[in-house]
Amino acid sequence: MARITAGIATSHVPAIGAALDNGRAAEPDWAPIFQGYQWTRRWLAEHRPDVVVLVYNDHASNFSMEVVPTFAIGCAEAFAPADEGWGPRPVPVVMGHQPLAWRLTESLIGEEFDLTIVNRLDVDHGLTVPLSLMFGQPEAWPVRVIPLAVNVIQHPPPSGERCYKLGEAIARAVASFPEDLKVQVWGTGGMSHQLTGERAGHINQAFDTGFLDKLTQDPEALRRIGHKEFIVEAGSEGVELIMWLVMRGALGPKARELHRFYHVPASNTAVGHMVLEPA
Ligand code: DHB
Ligand code: FE
Repeated sequence: MARITAGIATSHVPAIGAALDNGRAAEPDWAPIFQGYQWTRRWLAEHRPDVVVLVYNDHASNFSMEVVPTFAIGCAEAFAPADEGWGPRPVPVVMGHQPLAWRLTESLIGEEFDLTIVNRLDVDHGLTVPLSLMFGQPEAWPVRVIPLAVNVIQHPPPSGERCYKLGEAIARAVASFPEDLKVQVWGTGGMSHQLTGERAGHINQAFDTGFLDKLTQDPEALRRIGHKEFIVEAGSEGVELIMWLVMRGALGPKARELHRFYHVPASNTAVGHMVLEPA
């Protein structure tokens, strides 16, 4: 039977990918950020999953503002890096896992989560920057990936509560897959950030730290946070944190923190990262 072995949360700031791709990771602005992921890289070498269900958002890269699915699952064989305006990132193609993707699709739609089925999908920094942070610059990504895109671009995004429940349903779907597979669920985006407008550059360290603490200590409080609270406290793009709640929901009622990293700033953004295990 497939089982969820761990959850990983991380910001997905595109400039981090550009720093790596352009050989600038050792520069003083960037070195502390990559340092914060060293523990996880070592841990992943020993706790490598077969498949990652990678919860991220598309930033109008594959989808345009003409079509904005609330939840979308990538069922293709492979996913190419998206061209986000400067050409596609020079990273490997992301290989999917079609049998598990279809099991998830059948189970989740059966449970009344109306996912959009995506059979052709290019993946942007929301998905590829976390892979780079965890695995560096390999010839091929060492895991299969099932992309699960959440709308945080066009109001209204789904609620944090809905995202948490989706995570719980993902856990049931994974448990219904007969093959022995180790599956991790990753949630990306956040932490506090606002990219435009009067409050551009808004960072709320107290909110971010509280969010990190509550992932293990009080997830019930996190699932009740509404969009307005996210935007007021964490900035307009801070609402990306709802994707962490999908990951957290998938781990079950209790989870243990294995590693935490928090750093300000990368670009204009607070970088947060945590590795969790079901307890
Ligand atoms: C930026 C973009 C993002 O999607 C994000 O989550 C954080 C930062 C940026 O453009 O700086
Ligand atoms: Fe983003």
